[in-house]
Amino acid sequence: MEDLKRAAAGRAVEEYVESGMVVGLGTGSTASHAVWKIGELIAAGELSGVRGVPTSARTAAMAREVGIPLVTLSEEQPRFTIDGADEIGPELNLIKGRGGALLREKIVAGAGEFLVVVADDTKLVDTLGLGPLPVEIEPFGWEVTLDALASLGCEPSLRLEGPGSQTGDPERPYVTDGGHYTADCLFPSIPDPFALEEEIKRIPGALETGLFIGFAKSAIVARQDGTEVIEASPH
Ligand code: A5P
Repeated sequence: MEDLKRAAAGRAVEEYVESGMVVGLGTGSTASHAVWKIGELIAAGELSGVRGVPTSARTAAMAREVGIPLVTLSEEQPRFTIDGADEIGPELNLIKGRGGALLREKIVAGAGEFLVVVADDTKLVDTLGLGPLPVEIEPFGWEVTLDALASLGCEPSLRLEGPGSQTGDPERPYVTDGGHYTADCLFPSIPDPFALEEEIKRIPGALETGLFIGFAKSAIVARQDGTEVIEASPH
C-alpha cells in the first residue's frame, strides 16, 4: 500500500510542481509522500525556489525536516494543493478529514486554483459515504451540535484521541490544530453531497465539513498495474 501511495504522490509532484511555485502541502499518509518527494527534489537541486503552505502542524514539521521553505497564507497563496482523500466519488467530489485536518486543508485548497488528489485505488467509491463524514465542530455546546447532525440522518460520534493519544488520555476529545472537535458522521450513504453540505453548514456549531465539492481538478490514483489520472469534468 505504501508503494501505491508513493507512486501517486510522486507522479503528482513530477507533473505539477515546478521551480519557484508556492504549493499547498496536504496532510495524511499519502500527502506526506508528496512532501517527502518535493524535499528530495530540492535536495537534489532539481527544484528550486519552491515554497509550501502546510495544511497542518504535522505537515509543517515534516516539510521543515525535508527542507521545504514554508510560507503562511498571509504571505503568499499556493498555486495549487496536493492532498490525499478518504473517499473519491463521482465528479471527483471527496470526503476528507479522517486524518484530522479538514478545516485547514479546505482553507489552503480554496486559496489555490485547484486541488490535485493523490490516492491508492481503495479510495474510489461509486457513492460517497462508505465511511463516516468528518465534520469539524466548535467545542462549546458540542452535544447540541451532535444532536443537530443526527437529525440529518446520521450516527455522529465525537472523535476521541484513542490509542496513540498525544496527551496520554485516549478518552479525551481529539482537538484539531484550530482548537476544534471533530464529529464523525456515519450516513447510510451520501448521494447528494452538495445538498448535505448546505444542510450541515446551517448548524451553528458545525464549522466545516469534510465534503470537498468542486475542489479537485484531477486525481492521481495508483493501482497495482500503474497510475491513472482522472480529470474532473469541466463545470
Ligand atoms: C487529513 O485529515 C485527511 O483529509 C487526509 O488527507 C485523508 O484522510 C487521506 O489520508 P491518507 O492518505 O492517510 O489516507
